[in-house]
Amino acid sequence: MSSDNAKKMAAEAALEYVKPGSVVGVGTGSTVNFFIDALASMKHDIDGAVSSSEASTERLRQHGIAVFDLNGVPELELYVDGADEINRHRQMIKGGGGALTREKIVAAVAKTFICIADDSKQVTALGDFPLPVEVIPMARSYVARQIVKLGGDPVLRENFKTDNGNVILDIYNLNIGKPIELEEKLNQITGVVTNGLFAARSADIALISDGKTVTTLK
Ligand code: 5RP
Repeated sequence: MSSDNAKKMAAEAALEYVKPGSVVGVGTGSTVNFFIDALASMKHDIDGAVSSSEASTERLRQHGIAVFDLNGVPELELYVDGADEINRHRQMIKGGGGALTREKIVAAVAKTFICIADDSKQVTALGDFPLPVEVIPMARSYVARQIVKLGGDPVLRENFKTDNGNVILDIYNLNIGKPIELEEKLNQITGVVTNGLFAARSADIALISDGKTVTTLK
């Protein structure tokens, strides 16, 4: 309950960055759900949104917010999304909800990426949260073997398919001392679509709440 309050406060703080007349990039997850609900109060001031998942698209549409195909949106000022872990460099582990690939795409397009999170997501070092990797189904075993060579323990996420029709391997016990290097290394494995390290493209701003105040990191 208290973490819900913190998520809501962080989400509502992000509204300040939404420019009237713009299209807003929207992430996925329980924290983002609070953002979508808050964004509904501005729905007449914005053009609409681009979404990183079917779940967020549905929630946006339920609020009467138009959802555009990213291909038709040449410029995106702002992307707001949550995180499973965030460090002081605003590098993150994401993908707990399995939407990492579309999240990474929208984050790549956006000029400003704001991470909204409750303070339980703040970590000194990334890696306690198992790192999600989206994988083409036929490459699952090969990718898992390559991940073992990197020192991780991959576990197939049971009964789960991404919005792109792929599977997720959650990697436990991985040393993430060098997040940017590891992000690149994992992307080099054939069959990997994306990994949940958001280190090369970190958040520009993080709004972190403990349920009483919101701290801005930039
Ligand atoms: C989904 C994500 C989410 O941002 C992440 O899992 C955080 O979710 P929540 O706000 O529910 O804690 O990356 O793929």
